[in-house]
Amino acid sequence: MRITVKQQVFLAPATILILLVLLLAFMQYTYWELSTKRQEAKAIGTTFVALAEADMAARRLHLLLRTMQHTGMASPEEMALVSDLYERLFDAIGRLKPFGPLKESGQISQLFTLAEELNPANSPQIEKTAESFARFRTELSTVSSITQMHSNRLRLSHEQDINQLVEHAAIVSISVLILAILLGLAISAYISRRILNRVQSLSRNAVQIADGKLEIPPAPDRIRDELDTLAISINRMTTRLIRVVGTEKLLEGAEEERRRIAMDLHDQSLSDLSTILRGLQNLSVGTEDKTARTKIERLEEDLERAITNLRDIMNNLHPQILDILGLGAAIEAHLEQHCCTDKLPEYHLHIDPQVNNLDLDRLKQLAIYRIAIEAIQNVIKHAAASRYEVNLEMCEKTLVLSVEDNGKGMPDPANRDNGRGLNNISERAKSISAEVIWKPSRFSSGTRFELTLQS
Ligand SMILES: Nc1ncnc2c1ncn2[C@@H]1O[C@H](COP(=O)(O)OP(=O)(O)OP(=O)(O)O)[C@@H](O)[C@H]1O
Ligand SMILES: [Mg+2]
Repeated sequence: MRITVKQQVFLAPATILILLVLLLAFMQYTYWELSTKRQEAKAIGTTFVALAEADMAARRLHLLLRTMQHTGMASPEEMALVSDLYERLFDAIGRLKPFGPLKESGQISQLFTLAEELNPANSPQIEKTAESFARFRTELSTVSSITQMHSNRLRLSHEQDINQLVEHAAIVSISVLILAILLGLAISAYISRRILNRVQSLSRNAVQIADGKLEIPPAPDRIRDELDTLAISINRMTTRLIRVVGTEKLLEGAEEERRRIAMDLHDQSLSDLSTILRGLQNLSVGTEDKTARTKIERLEEDLERAITNLRDIMNNLHPQILDILGLGAAIEAHLEQHCCTDKLPEYHLHIDPQVNNLDLDRLKQLAIYRIAIEAIQNVIKHAAASRYEVNLEMCEKTLVLSVEDNGKGMPDPANRDNGRGLNNISERAKSISAEVIWKPSRFSSGTRFELTLQS
């Protein structure tokens, strides 16, 4: 399963959070149980008040009715008071909340029946009224004592419940908190150690690569998180680096070899040929025979041409001007020496003066020089162009070499001859970490070759 580093980091706090939420749910559940009991206690309180009010109203009503029955007269105020007391009595019974034992017993409906018998509108006789009131109040006191008993029992169990709840809540909270802390610590210790070990190993590998010890670090066989992706990238990066360094060393060796051959040619062959030329010149001066002198002079001319050709070869093997005047001047010298005849396409050269301030090492200069020469050669050989532009310039911090012609354009790779030039350009560019691209030219037709190198 793929778990990102971010998710791994959040695993410990998430576990603690889940445990705390569970604890909260437990507390809520216990409180809810307690609150139903508290509601019952509230109902008992209301019932007590209602019972007291009903009793009081019944007593006053009985007294008033008795007085009225004895005198046999009733003033309108007294009649109004009677009906008001009866209403209050009825209302008080209506407010009785059925709870616990009262729910099923039917005593409340019994009270209602008895209360209806007390209705003064029925104008009962004195004895019957007294009897009804006595029955009603007996029933009231029965309900009251049941309520009292239930209330006592409830108070006792409520106290016990609260004690139990506090005890339970304390034990459960402490246990859950300890568990959450231990679990959080264990998970974060495990994950941080796991991440730290892998980061340390990655940083060791990176330091080794930076120190130049190019050993391919191990790569995980499957990607589980970003660190595995990083390990695979470092592995691939090292493999590519080894390949690039190998190519660079190879090219460096080849350039060194060419320099040595150029020096040998100069010091040995060129000086031998110059000695022979001097010998021939002396010989021609001392020769009286005209025909023989003409032959010697022809030989001198051939030898001078051979010496010029040898100098070209030496320069091609190792362009000395590059060491002396730099990249721009070397390209300019090449164009002037080899690309300036009428039969060849016209060229325009632009060298940005900023390029001279660039601190390019010898190998990079050589690589770019050889790439430029091959790109120019290709224009002359293949493009059938009438003109081309060679630019060497700085675009912010990037060195850009471009050779752009107005020729027929690059054929598709499938229709291209298999030369070594393009391949060499790509290899040389890779060895100095430059990028090369061939794209349509900005002229109406043709090719633009571009090399970019970040300085
Ligand atoms: N500027 C260009 N315009 C048109 N075609 C080009 C241009 N540059 C290269 N090509 C095409 O690319 C092909 C390959 O070029 P590449 O330099 O690799 O080989 P080559 O020049 O034929 O031989 P080599 O460079 O080995 O002497 C050429 O044959 C040519 O068709
Ligand atoms: Mg070529």
